[in-house]
This record gives sequence, C-alpha cells and structure tokens, in this order.
Amino acid sequence: MKIAVKKSGLEHITTDLLALPFSSGELKERAVKRLDELGLEQQVLKDFKAEAGELVVLYGGNGKLPAHRIALLGIGEGKSIDDLRKAAASCASKAVELKIEKIAFDCSAFEDFALSYGQSIATLAGAVVEGSASGAYRFDRLKSDKLDKKSAGPKFKGITELLLSVDSNVFEEAEEGAAEGKIVASCQKMARDLVNLPGNYLQAEGIAKAAEESGKKYGYEVTVFRKREIEALGMGGLLAVNKGSFHPPTFTVLDYKPKGKVKAVIALVGKGVTFDSGGISIKPSENMGEMKSDMAGAASVLGAVEAAARLGLPLHIIGLIPATDNMPDGMAQQPGDVITTYSGITVEVGNTDAEGRLILADALTYGKEKYNPDVIIDIATLTGACIVALGFAVAALFSNNDKLADEIYQAGQESGEKVWRMPLWDLYDEQIKSDVADVNNTGGRGAGSVTAAKFLEKFIDGHKNWAHIDIAGPSFSSKGAGKGNGGTGFGVSLLISLLKKWQ
Ligand code: BES
Ligand code: MN
Ligand code: ZN
Repeated sequence: MKIAVKKSGLEHITTDLLALPFSSGELKERAVKRLDELGLEQQVLKDFKAEAGELVVLYGGNGKLPAHRIALLGIGEGKSIDDLRKAAASCASKAVELKIEKIAFDCSAFEDFALSYGQSIATLAGAVVEGSASGAYRFDRLKSDKLDKKSAGPKFKGITELLLSVDSNVFEEAEEGAAEGKIVASCQKMARDLVNLPGNYLQAEGIAKAAEESGKKYGYEVTVFRKREIEALGMGGLLAVNKGSFHPPTFTVLDYKPKGKVKAVIALVGKGVTFDSGGISIKPSENMGEMKSDMAGAASVLGAVEAAARLGLPLHIIGLIPATDNMPDGMAQQPGDVITTYSGITVEVGNTDAEGRLILADALTYGKEKYNPDVIIDIATLTGACIVALGFAVAALFSNNDKLADEIYQAGQESGEKVWRMPLWDLYDEQIKSDVADVNNTGGRGAGSVTAAKFLEKFIDGHKNWAHIDIAGPSFSSKGAGKGNGGTGFGVSLLISLLKKWQ
C-alpha cells in the first residue's frame, strides 16, 4: 500500500473513496456546515450517529469533490485514539469489501483532534495509517481461487493507495507520523502472516528463515542455533518439548545495534510454538487448529525488532526466539518426566501442555547470562487461564519492577494494545512445588496465569527489571469474531510504543 500525505485540499483529491471523519459531538454544527460546503445531502445526518467505525457511503456530491465516493466516518466522541484507529480500520475494510483500490482520509480537523485527544499530530497520522492497514489486511495467500465463480476484469489486489489530506501547517508532522505508522503496520502484517500460517506451512525452521530474511533486509544480525547446537548448549526445556516432533527445533537470536549511542540494552523473548497439540497431555480436538497461533509471541518479537531497526531506535535490542511444535509421539516427553533446563534448574513436567514455559525458561536464562540486559521482556501465548481472567482484548502483565510495569501499561494505552497487571506474590510458589524436582511446570486449577509467571520468574536469575506479557487472548480472534479473523499482530505496536520511551 502506497501512503502519501498531501496538503492540496479535498477538491483536488481524486480517489475511489474519500473518508470524512466526524465525532458525535460535532454532528449538529460542523457536520452540517461541512456537508453544505461540499454540496452533500443533509438528510444523511438523520441516520448517521458517528459511532466509532460507523460508515455511510455517499455518491455524487454536486460535482464539488472529484472523489468517486464520499464516506461519512464515525470516530465516536472524538476523544480516544483507539476510536480513530477503529474508524480507519472500518473504512479500509469496507473499501476492500467494495474492491476499491484508492482511498483518502480527510485530516483537515487534525489540529482540533490533537487538542481534544491530547496527542501529537504525528501520533494521529500514525494511528490512521496503522488502522487502515489493519482493516485492509486479509490472509489469502493459501487461496487458489479455483472454486471462485469467474468474475470479469483483473483480480483485486487490495488497497494500493492511502492518501492523508492535511492542512499545510501540520504537513511535516503528519508526514513523519505516517512514515512511522507505515513501518509499524508493515511489521504487524508480517507478524499476522506468520501467526496465520498453519503448522504444515510454518515450522521452527520457517521462523528462523523469516528472521534471517528480515535481518538481511534491514541490517541487523541474526544467529540461528539448530538442534545440534541447542543440544551442545544444554537447552533441556526446548529439547524436551521437541522430543515428540518430526521437525527439529531452532533458537533464533536477533541482534539490532543502533549506529549511534546505545541508551539501553533490551532483551525480548518470544514463545515460538508453531503448533501446540498439548503433547501427551493432548488437548481436546475442538478448536485445536487455533493452536497454530501459539508462536504469536515470537512473531511480535520479530515484528518489534524489525520495526526498531527500521526506525533506527537508539537501543541495543536482542530478540530471543525458541521455536518448536509440541506433538505426541512414542518419543515425546511424558507427564512425570524430570528435565534439566539450560539454567541447571530441574523441572517435573506435570503436564506436557504447559510447554511454553519450558522453552521460555531456557531463552530467558540464556538472554540474561549472555547479554546482561537492562530490561528483559517475554511475550507469549502462555495460558488459557489468561483468557478466563481478561478475555480476548487484553493481555496480562506481570513484572517485578513497578516502573517498568507502569511504562508497559502506558504503552498499552497509547498503542491500543491494552495490558492489565497481575500479581507475582511468592505465596503462589506453593502451587508449583515438586516432590522430585526443583519446580513443577503446572500449578493446578487456580490462578493458572500467575503460576505460569511465577515459574518463568525462576529462570531470570534474579534480574530486577523483568516483565512477562501473556497474550493468549488478544493474539488471535476466532472464527465468527468478525472481519479481522485470525492473527492480530498484538504486541508489535505495544512493544514499539514502549521502546520509543528510551529515545
Ligand atoms: N498455548 C497454550 C495456551 C493457550 C490457550 C493460548 C488458549 C491461546 C489460547 C499453552 O501452551 C497451554 O496449553 N497452557 C495450558 C497450561 C496448563 C496445562 C497448566 C493451559 O492454559 O491450559
Ligand atoms: Mn500448551
Ligand atoms: Zn502453548
């Protein structure tokens, strides 16, 4: 999608669909005036309520505007950037439905918006670009179209152009924000594609390859440890989960260093389970196919490191991605097994379906030991219990550092990828005690997300600035949840909002 910012005025914008955003508060005055100026029918305001994402498509317009279609686009009360993002997404999604290639967004009220939202022009422009790109996203690379009824004309390739029409005094800022939004959107798309690829298309090696490709393209270093090296390192957690697999594991390390001064060293660890059957503790078959998304943490780490590199953030960022599938087999690990992790800590595998924490354990210890980072953040589709607690829109946040927790919470508010903090009190350790090993990988029925986090905490070797983000809910939307089915790319925007704080 080509993205352009223009200051020429709506009467010069030739496009297939021009979106005019309105908030509910301005329906009476500004909207009436605006429709009048543009020669558009006022009657439409009887039905249009300007709810966030509400869209009415009009045709014509007394010839004052050259755009083929005009869309009145609701942005809710006009106070939340989430609503603006949602509106842009709804508009772009509609355009895809209508097979429209060129869309434009009227941003002439951005100065007013900036005041009422309490946000910069650049942030608003970025939100319009990110929202539009996410609404336009479709995962159709595995469709052959062989069963489609023959339609006339060339195949629709998606939205090719998004134009932001702005006032000249905010042009530079809007352009800067749009450029940044474009980078984040492209990294989100990469993450969504990886999440949507099923287990027979994406294995551990595929994650490593995607990282290598990105590193080559955007100038950061990628090292892939393959099975023999993982054995030599003694990563007993990753190897145990991989025991039942046909496909060998990989451990990928992404290493981005800025050109200038390094403000902080950040380690990002992402769970890369390319398919989670549960292993011998096998999952019920209903919706098991959604477990192709169990590498969403890995995808968001890859997306965030690529975005950081493309934005040239002044940080040394290390992405650590342990990857494997989790399968039942004669060779698979069994419940009751005791394994030795990279740290030397022994684990009783109470349940082979609690595999994410086993592979993260090794990566966390390795990251701490090798890089001594200022901050360690892991992100993972770790527990179903997290969905029970917070649902499908919000991630759980755990941290042993209040300042870091606050910063991640704020990044969630800014990016729209919301997190809510949960406790890490030691009283939960009781649930993961083992009679035969140092710790058990399951903690029974209660507080499943907390006991998972307490387990991870044992593998950071006393690091004082660690956070764990459980994205089991928001990383994937199930069938029937609407147009944006499948991988969401959750985490990319959250992590980038956070990383930008160290500038
Ligand atoms: N990948 C799952 C968690 C999950 C569930 C993510 C649903 C997204 C949607 C994880 O590996 C898992 O199976 N966790 C178990 C842990 C339990 C066995 C202690 C769970 O949550 O049931
Ligand atoms: Mn599992
Ligand atoms: Zn899993």
